[in-house]
Amino acid sequence: MNDRTLFHRDPLHGYPVVVRGEGVYLYDDEGHRFIDGTAGAGNVTLGHGRRRIAEVMAEQARTLAYSFSALFANQPALDLAARIAAVAPVDDGRVYFVSGGSEGIETAFKLARQYHLLRGKGQKQKVIARWRSYHGASLGALAATGLPQLRAPFVPWLADFPHIDPCYPYRCALEGCAGKCNLACARQLEKAILQAGPGNVAAFVAEPVVMGGVAAGVPPPEYFAQIRAICDKYDVLFIVDEVITGFGRTGSYFAIEHWGVKPDVIVFGKGASSGYMPLGGVVMGGEIASAFTAAGEFFQHIFTYVNNPVAARVGLEVMDIIEEEEILTNATKTGDYLQAKARELSEHPSVGDIRGLGLMLGIELVKDRETGEPFPVGEKVSQRLCRMALTRGLALSGASGGADWVDGDDLRYYPPLVISREEIDLSLAIIHQSLTQLEEELGMTVTVGCRQPS
Ligand SMILES: Cc1ncc(COP(=O)(O)O)c(C=O)c1O
Repeated sequence: MNDRTLFHRDPLHGYPVVVRGEGVYLYDDEGHRFIDGTAGAGNVTLGHGRRRIAEVMAEQARTLAYSFSALFANQPALDLAARIAAVAPVDDGRVYFVSGGSEGIETAFKLARQYHLLRGKGQKQKVIARWRSYHGASLGALAATGLPQLRAPFVPWLADFPHIDPCYPYRCALEGCAGKCNLACARQLEKAILQAGPGNVAAFVAEPVVMGGVAAGVPPPEYFAQIRAICDKYDVLFIVDEVITGFGRTGSYFAIEHWGVKPDVIVFGKGASSGYMPLGGVVMGGEIASAFTAAGEFFQHIFTYVNNPVAARVGLEVMDIIEEEEILTNATKTGDYLQAKARELSEHPSVGDIRGLGLMLGIELVKDRETGEPFPVGEKVSQRLCRMALTRGLALSGASGGADWVDGDDLRYYPPLVISREEIDLSLAIIHQSLTQLEEELGMTVTVGCRQPS
């Protein structure tokens, strides 16, 4: 029973009440079991019910639950900063801890702004971002976010940040792209910097693999090298948003490693605590930190829960588990398995594109595979599919508006990194059954023999 005093984002939806989690499974108060195909909100990377994490949390809370970062340091935060800096692909990394992804993005933007100010480049204040990005819900993060439906109610409050096209070859309208990226989207960054005036641009922010605005959008191998070169040319900091990709999702600690590029700032969140505590932060290159030291200036930005010792203690346990259980190797292997196996769904007449990296999968749904014509928004295709899958025991997410901000549907699957091949098979079988049901309801002709993934 949902009590109406708890305000839900969707006031018309009845949310199952979950009471327990174990591994990749969630259980509700009516005894239903669901595969957690979204790993919580992409954060429960190590799965549910990890006792050793619960135990270290309790122990840390008993010993030191809180310390005020304006007055004290604490050992878990010191240790976790060193551990993260050692694996992050930035030079001489320094870490600032906050409570989540949006706070991390705000921190990165303010760091970039103050860094330029400290170097006598006080005009540099714009952050360039991409359409179809998701960087968070707070106002600075939302100003960078490239999703009109999320921005619309709050536009009067948003900073004027320029946006360039995303890397989205399936629906890219840029000349010469036609399904295979020719990097015209990356080159747009240079045009946007010149248009804003290089002296006004502080940073560029991008997710290495997009999930919020494009279901598992993966740029080609040359994309981020091009972005890096443009940022260097105009003294623009490159901020990589690894909130959903960080801590193993694509098989490496940070997804940007796949492109062999070093950003100036990495924003992390979600998987840093595997969802057991609110934890996020940034890793900045030593050069940025040194600008503050050289000037003897404060970073003018603090939250109550900066350097929270319980969150940091959880982060340390998460990194121990990642290493002891070889989570990155598992995510690479099961990720490759998932990506290969999911291609079997391409026989469905409603499946336009299947893409992803590691344990991030996106399925783009279309009315017509030849033309890529999307379903009309009124059909609520992704919403219906998610409900069909939930009834069958798989929690999935999906979004609409992918084609033209109104029409277009997709499905997103990003389970805990500890998922087994059998559980992936079960998930794909449920997606197959749900697609079949949807296609029958819509009267779509199955022109090819649509097998359940074996
Ligand atoms: C890429 C990305 N950036 C930022 C955020 C915002 O993080 P949070 O919801 O923890 O504030 C998210 C959340 O989904 C995200 O996926």
